[in-house]
Amino acid sequence: MDRKRRSSWRATHWLAAFVLATGGAEAQAPSEETIQYFKQNCASCHTIGGGRLAGPDLKGALQRRDRDWLVRFVLDPKALIDSGDSYAQGLLKEARGVVMPSVPGLTRDRAGKLIDLVDAESKLERSQFAGALVSDRPLTPADAALGAELFRGTRRFAAGGPACISCHSNAAIGGLGGGLLGPDLTDAYSRLEGRKALSAWLSAPPSPTMAPIYRSKPLDPDEVLALVAWLQVVAERGDEARSPPMLGFTLAGIGGAALILVLFDFLWRRRFRDVRKSLVERST
Ligand code: HEC
Ligand code: HEC
Repeated sequence: MDRKRRSSWRATHWLAAFVLATGGAEAQAPSEETIQYFKQNCASCHTIGGGRLAGPDLKGALQRRDRDWLVRFVLDPKALIDSGDSYAQGLLKEARGVVMPSVPGLTRDRAGKLIDLVDAESKLERSQFAGALVSDRPLTPADAALGAELFRGTRRFAAGGPACISCHSNAAIGGLGGGLLGPDLTDAYSRLEGRKALSAWLSAPPSPTMAPIYRSKPLDPDEVLALVAWLQVVAERGDEARSPPMLGFTLAGIGGAALILVLFDFLWRRRFRDVRKSLVERST
């Protein structure tokens, strides 16, 4: 009787040890699914060991806060910030007031796995999320020219995603040139804090409108590079357009247009008169 109870107690122990061991192993080797999920939903704002983008570098996040806190934060960032939590407030200040969006459909279980992934990747010499996926070579005018074609849709994206112009305009295209569903992108380069953060942003856009479209038809790293080069040029042009020297150029443009009108008027003077004359004759 006594022996029987002791052996069942021992069996329970073995079982517990087994569960702990496999559970532990799972935390150390994140699944491919979790890695993909992080790539598509988190890597646009976070590196692990590569410096900050729109959000903080997540390397060593578990040394700053415990797992429970981080899971709670990821599930509902705004709630934790609004609760007055001082650490969350500090993060918000460092992010210059950008609140991390809550990811639709994220479960507690998945949030936990993501934090385990951050933990595992933090311990590596170099995480796969340490660097931008997009090359950091110097941008050339050829890159910007390619970016302009991709933006306008005169050249198609390799994966078949829609041209940016269907939803966006910018200063170089003009107010009537592009779609209005998305914001004007003249200032996107500076608003999204420059090349590195914009590249990461475009690699997996965390926009509720763009994410579902470009998730299945992602931009490839060379296309992102070209678009970033173009948006940098556009931002510079936008600045020029706002500064006084541009006024002279605009006036020259208006003057030129007026000259052309006068010229056409001169060239077509007979044609108009003739048409009018024949109309008048026919109606009488
Ligand atoms: C649009 C950008 C953006 C996306 C996408 C995003 N985050 Fe964040 N994240 C932030 C910002 C900004 C902060 C800093 C707090 C704040 O200002 O809201 C932050 C903070 C965090 C923190 C706390 C960091 C620390 O140092 O303690 C964790 C953990 C985190 N994010 C994980 C994630 C995970 C996991 C995902 C994907 C499910 C994700 N984030 C997606 C912008 C983002
Ligand atoms: C189907 C419409 C649509 C297409 C196509 C689209 N976008 Fe967007 N984009 C949006 C919307 C809408 C927003 C605003 C965020 C939101 O509400 O989702 C946005 C936001 C952005 C932002 C962030 C702007 C900011 O200031 O925060 C950038 C950058 C951007 N888009 C770039 C692009 C580029 C580059 C392309 C082409 C590869 C593109 N978009 C294609 C709809 C679109």
